[in-house]
Amino acid sequence: MFSKLSLIASFASVLFFASIHGSQCNASSLSRANYWFAFGGSYTARGFDSHGTLPKPGNPLGNPAYPGKTVTGGANYVDVLTTELNRSLILTYDYAVSGATIDSSLVKLGKGSRTRPLTVQVSEFLEGAGKKPKTARWTSENALFSIFVGINDITGSYHKSGSNDKFNKVLMRAYFEQVDKLAGARNFLFINIPPIERAPANRKHSEADRLLEKNTVLDFNKKLAKKAKSFQAKHRGVKTWVWDSNGAINNILDNYKKHGFTDITKWGGPGDYWGNNFHPCSKAQTILAKDIAEVVKGTRWFS
Ligand SMILES: *[C@@H]1O[C@H](CO)[C@@H](O)[C@H](O)[C@H]1NC(C)=O
Ligand SMILES: *[C@@H]1O[C@H](CO)[C@@H](O)[C@H](O)[C@H]1NC(C)=O
Repeated sequence: MFSKLSLIASFASVLFFASIHGSQCNASSLSRANYWFAFGGSYTARGFDSHGTLPKPGNPLGNPAYPGKTVTGGANYVDVLTTELNRSLILTYDYAVSGATIDSSLVKLGKGSRTRPLTVQVSEFLEGAGKKPKTARWTSENALFSIFVGINDITGSYHKSGSNDKFNKVLMRAYFEQVDKLAGARNFLFINIPPIERAPANRKHSEADRLLEKNTVLDFNKKLAKKAKSFQAKHRGVKTWVWDSNGAINNILDNYKKHGFTDITKWGGPGDYWGNNFHPCSKAQTILAKDIAEVVKGTRWFS
């Protein structure tokens, strides 16, 4: 006996099957695809919903439509690297969400915040593309994993009592607990924390406060570089890159005119480096993308 429900279910599965085949019509280009799984916060986020339209040849970032919902509008570094600086077809799954911390049990998310910390982003990957479904037959060789997280952890913790050195160690342990969960991953791009003390939003803080924030970021970055190195040494076949966003952004801010900007204190206007009071504009993100491609060059993703 057919129940209504099972009829609906089987009809839905026929549709689902058809759409999978439709999306795979160009099997030859899909089999040549490389993959990029990106995790992080607002610099990286483009509003991707892992239950929506998935990346495929012709639409390498899936949903939402290019450039996506980026924090200051326009393309971000993920958009630019995937579609312009790529040396092959890269299918990019960007799990990043604005406001993300590493683990919300360590640094609480803003009240009412709909962000997802790294812990949740990694689960989302493991439950979806991580299972290597037909739509994402990635391998250890053709998949790049990038993580750009820590800005919100430092912002939410540097001014609290207790040792920032100790807390950064706690954060780093939690960070690499997530890295360890990425079964099958061999290629890692770790992105360190930008000079957030220079963001317009933080200029109202005292000099001492900004110095503390800066030093806490630098300490986190030092720990990350060390950890990336030891992670590569410990795991056979693992390759790690660290992109020094802190150095790259300080360089742009110190030489902003050379990079085509007219102001680094205001935001949102033409010529401003800052797209809003805490994040670089799309033009700045494009410069950053080029810097990242330089770091990960000579690989199947970037030349
Ligand atoms: C699939 O992609 C290849 C290479 O881009 C192209 O030559 C071929 O025409 C495409 N096939 C279909 C069915 O779109
Ligand atoms: C770079 O990505 C775009 C968008 O997916 C694709 O059309 C293009 O062929 C890729 N470039 C190379 C050199 O594969």
